[in-house]
Amino acid sequence: MTKIAIFASGSGSNAENIIKYFRGVEGVQVVLVLSNKKDALVLKRAQNNFVPTFVFTKEELNSGAKVLDKLCETNASIIILAGFLLKIPNSLLNCYQNKIINIHPALLPKYGGIGMYGMHVHRAVVENNEFESGITIHYVNERYDDGAFIFQAKCTVLSSDTPEDVKAKVQALELLHFPKVIASILK
Ligand code: GAR
Repeated sequence: MTKIAIFASGSGSNAENIIKYFRGVEGVQVVLVLSNKKDALVLKRAQNNFVPTFVFTKEELNSGAKVLDKLCETNASIIILAGFLLKIPNSLLNCYQNKIINIHPALLPKYGGIGMYGMHVHRAVVENNEFESGITIHYVNERYDDGAFIFQAKCTVLSSDTPEDVKAKVQALELLHFPKVIASILK
């Protein structure tokens, strides 16, 4: 059994989509959803789907032991970042080498790095009159949005599109592709 842990800080539409997708896949299970935000909607979504949750502080993440202990307790062998906004510390990277995967709502290397998350990304894409955006799924390393790419998908950005329009297009790509890309990595 491959056990997945999902880290998320926000609404959790990706986390819920991944949980539901792997319910139909033999030998794979989402065993834990972790968040640094105790009020994040993702926690409610996980609980509604009967997935255990765990909340930690930024300090606890960086000091290592508490989060690592929890991951070990659940035997998680792969970590998915689904809208997780803190940097992953080296202690975690060392334990999960090439086993931590992030989704970014843009075509990296454009629109990545510190401060580039969620709506900030879509606003920047529109302000710069880009004609396309998309998603990048990549391995996580010690720098923000910098690890090796696994998969990218594009959508068109029209001159009339608002940041909310771009968000909707990007989210559609995320929901369509992210679980499948994870499944292909696990094969
Ligand atoms: C997603 O669009 C994800 O790509 C983005 O946060 C959103 C989370 O949405 N991640 C980043 O910006 C990371 N830099 P969700 O909570 O509804 O899944």
